[in-house]
Amino acid sequence: MTVHFIGAGPGAPDLLTLRGRDLIAASPVCLYAGSLIPAAMLDHCPPGARRINTAPLSLDDIIAEIQAAHDAGDDVARLHSGDLSIWSAMGEQLRRLRALDIPVTITPGVPAFAAAAAALEIELTLPGVAQSVVLTRTPGRASAMPPAETLTAFAATGATLAIHLSVHNLAQVVADLTPAYGAQCPVAIVWRASWPDQQIERATLATIAATIEGKPDRTALILVGQAISPRDFADSSLYATGYDRRFRPQSAQSKFAGDLT
Ligand SMILES: C[S@@+](CC[C@H](N)C(=O)[O-])C[C@H]1O[C@@H](n2cnc3c(N)ncnc32)[C@H](O)[C@@H]1O
Repeated sequence: MTVHFIGAGPGAPDLLTLRGRDLIAASPVCLYAGSLIPAAMLDHCPPGARRINTAPLSLDDIIAEIQAAHDAGDDVARLHSGDLSIWSAMGEQLRRLRALDIPVTITPGVPAFAAAAAALEIELTLPGVAQSVVLTRTPGRASAMPPAETLTAFAATGATLAIHLSVHNLAQVVADLTPAYGAQCPVAIVWRASWPDQQIERATLATIAATIEGKPDRTALILVGQAISPRDFADSSLYATGYDRRFRPQSAQSKFAGDLT
């Protein structure tokens, strides 16, 4: 018996990986995280599968369900939204399952920040503009931030920021970022990226609060930085004519000549 943790992607049912789909189809028990997992995802469950929405459950309840499946010899598909490596609460489940000697596998998923960038049709890292993306959030009721991980500190780098779990806290985000990024810095907010009711707003730090008045206050990604709406940026060296590289040696003297044989 194995618990298969599966990143279910940002929402669109066809953004589930093939591996994730096959593991769901092979597991008689499916635990899924409530409203962020589309119902269509559960269509992959085998007939008669036990489907459990974990939204109203405690960690103890979830582990009890997994222990019961373990006792019955049933594999479990454990679905979380996006990818499992960020804000999935997988860490605490792994710790409990390791203590119980219950085997696990982990299948990554498409994270929401990537789906938001796709919806905006942008690259978050542009030559000479931004070469880092900070995946972060602001403090929540249940989650304090480590003291050094402030938006002000991240803003000092000029990196592209992908701010999760924070659209309800937009005024504070704007206040923290404006001194470093400037009021004209581009901002985009994507709600429910890849869902049929996806919404997008683009503005600047100065105008974003007024722009999104009346919009939902959850399930949104705030993207901030010059890469969101670049005025100008260089081509990358990778495809530049004359750039000597392993897959395109420029002369017989290139240190890469002969590497392709
Ligand atoms: C608990 S975190 C889960 C993150 C997820 N593990 C991932 O890889 O993206 C939930 C937050 O992710 C963001 N999020 C998740 N799905 C989203 C979507 N489809 N569109 C926009 N933001 C989304 C929102 O900021 C939301 O508050």
